[in-house]
Amino acid sequence: MEKKIAILNGDGVGPEVTAQSVKVLAAIAEAFNHQFECKEALVGAAAIDKTGTALPAETIDICLDSDAVLFGAVGHPKYDSDTAAAIRPEQGLFGIRKALQLYANIRPITTYPLLQHLLPFKPKHLEGVDCVIFRELTGGIYFGKRHTSDDGNYASDETSYSREEVERIAHVAFQSAQKRKKKLTMVDKANVLDTSKLWRRVVKEIAAGYADVTVDYMYADNASLQIILNPKQFDVILTENLIGDILSDEASVLVGSMGMLPSASIGNKNALFEPIHGSFPKAAGKDIANPVGSILSAAMMMDYFGLTEEAAAIRDGVEWTLQNNFVTKDIDPVNFYFTSTIGDLIADYVSGKIPGSVKKENIELRKSTII
Ligand code: IPM
Ligand code: MG
Repeated sequence: MEKKIAILNGDGVGPEVTAQSVKVLAAIAEAFNHQFECKEALVGAAAIDKTGTALPAETIDICLDSDAVLFGAVGHPKYDSDTAAAIRPEQGLFGIRKALQLYANIRPITTYPLLQHLLPFKPKHLEGVDCVIFRELTGGIYFGKRHTSDDGNYASDETSYSREEVERIAHVAFQSAQKRKKKLTMVDKANVLDTSKLWRRVVKEIAAGYADVTVDYMYADNASLQIILNPKQFDVILTENLIGDILSDEASVLVGSMGMLPSASIGNKNALFEPIHGSFPKAAGKDIANPVGSILSAAMMMDYFGLTEEAAAIRDGVEWTLQNNFVTKDIDPVNFYFTSTIGDLIADYVSGKIPGSVKKENIELRKSTII
């Protein structure tokens, strides 16, 4: 198979985690006889520094001309400013989501028994937890009209949704539920917001066409409590942009580290894959960030291409590193391995070099010496 992949490294740890996915993708291409043509493009603070804008037109063109986009992270403290007019790296992310019409952001929450010691929960609490958040990504308050008064003492952000925006993501979420545990939970604030009332109305209508899926409706405040108290009740969670942003960070607590979580953002013609973590500026350039969120995003890209065996090979490689305690600092602050080592190991696993020619002594040399 021949595919064009746009690589948007972005800022902070974005380039170093994305580099590991590129390594793994090269190993997949070699092992399964594919051609992945990777082309880099600027986004975020890196783009502002070079071009004055967080999303140059050339980047949009490269993405539109690709079969998929692999995205790192955006954000840099030097552009943190509270003035309404400031150029911010995040505009690159919103801009690409909108330009490619990536309306469905899919965030699977997969727990790993091998990481359960890191969690503030008893292992039993997490047995059977396996859910996926469908977050609407191109509407709502993120894209509404904003206003700050001239004297800076008043500000407003508008939120709006159309029936069509709700319908398109609802169908994707219902279809996913049909292939999973056949349960969908719609999360909103329909006790307060008109936009939420619209969501409920439209989702109720659509639910009639998916009779095999059980639907329940939950207010966001209750859902944020239920995710911690009784996470196994969830299968597919469907929600709007801002609530999905908040719930997905919260749900990452069930996994052990935000660095483990991948995502896919899908539109009708384009798709983008990125870890859910941010640019983590403090760790940038230190080779300590967890690349697994990005590497599992590459696995989701393989699924999107219909390459299920390739996706499974990447996920098996990730499992293998966990089983052998090859983990980054966020998972084990004392006995940790470097970002690039984890990338090498997963690429080697995919290439069939593990077990076998990979020497444990050589890997140990790439371990942190902090005891
Ligand atoms: C995410 C992130 C972004 C968002 C930030 C970086 C603007 O938190 O993808 O979840 O809020 O959408
Ligand atoms: Mg977020």
